[in-house]
Amino acid sequence: MALIDQQQALEFLRDGAVVALPTETVYGLAGRIDQDQALERIFKTKQRPFFDPLIVHVKDLQQAEAWAQFDEASRHLATSFWPGPLTLVLPKKDGISRLINNGGTTVALRSPDHLVFQQLLEQLKVPLAAPSANMFGKTSPTTAQHVLQEFAGNVPVVDGGACHRGIESTVVQVDLNNQVLRILRPGVIDADQLRDFFANQNIKLKVTEAQSEQAPGHLKNHYQPNQPVALVDSLQPLDQQGLQRLTEKTSGPWQELLVDANPTVAARHLYGHFREFSDLNKPLWIRVQPHWKTEPAWQGFYDRIQKAASYRLVYENGHWRVLSET
Ligand code: TXA
Ligand code: MG
Repeated sequence: MALIDQQQALEFLRDGAVVALPTETVYGLAGRIDQDQALERIFKTKQRPFFDPLIVHVKDLQQAEAWAQFDEASRHLATSFWPGPLTLVLPKKDGISRLINNGGTTVALRSPDHLVFQQLLEQLKVPLAAPSANMFGKTSPTTAQHVLQEFAGNVPVVDGGACHRGIESTVVQVDLNNQVLRILRPGVIDADQLRDFFANQNIKLKVTEAQSEQAPGHLKNHYQPNQPVALVDSLQPLDQQGLQRLTEKTSGPWQELLVDANPTVAARHLYGHFREFSDLNKPLWIRVQPHWKTEPAWQGFYDRIQKAASYRLVYENGHWRVLSET
């Protein structure tokens, strides 16, 4: 099983099979939400634990309203940001399978901005659950080739080109009691964009970051490539002694990943670079730029490299020290 076309994907999905589809963020492993057999297949294929909830992909706001209870602010967000990389967590309506959110009371929804995915949703008339199409905890795929490689060709894939965004959607939840919008997972759409949006719409919600434990399935280690990643968290240039510390952890040759100065471009290429270096059996180090920690536009990128990293290298009192991040 390998590449399939859109018509074949439609037939597979109608029959309750799972297929990998392109989105603007990363490739997703899709199955219809009204067939538990398809949902079970998604978890099994990824070896994903059932406590990690799935995102439901909808054609538009109208379809979403059949499955979730929208408040006014969430409705405004969907109207403005969909189709696009914003996932809304909302109280679920009856009829949503327990498998979607481990029997919980909420459901996460987004409308993907990719023609292939949109046309399939239009034809199927039922939403598709789709986690990223990778083994649990590993790097998300941003090309059809990545998906083939990840599942050794055992999952059919529609090739819709390289993902334009390259990291996953931002997951948010409106909390009306506290008048806040919580970012549960940083992503393509950043806190500044959401704040500007609320200011323009005259919506009185504060935008805050949740503690990562609040997002189910948001684990400390995630997005990990097959070869380790180290973050060099110092303004001190990495010298022979520093490289030696890394080599004591994992034999090299360690390579530096040069990161683009534009966060959108940096995010687009991140996972592809992780895979390229892993395929060459090269562990990777990344110099952390101080502004990645503070500027909202870098939040999604910085979150992903922190979760992907196995080591953090710091410079203290004239010595390099390797901290384990796992
Ligand atoms: O960009 C994306 O969001 C991609 C593409 C394929 O759409 N999908 C994706 O799905 O990243 P996945 O399964 O890899 O990540 C889903 C994450 C969960 O781990 C969890 O953090 C959050 O979304 N999530 C899902 N349902 C939730 C819920 N009911 N409450 C809180 N967080 C939820
Ligand atoms: Mg994922």
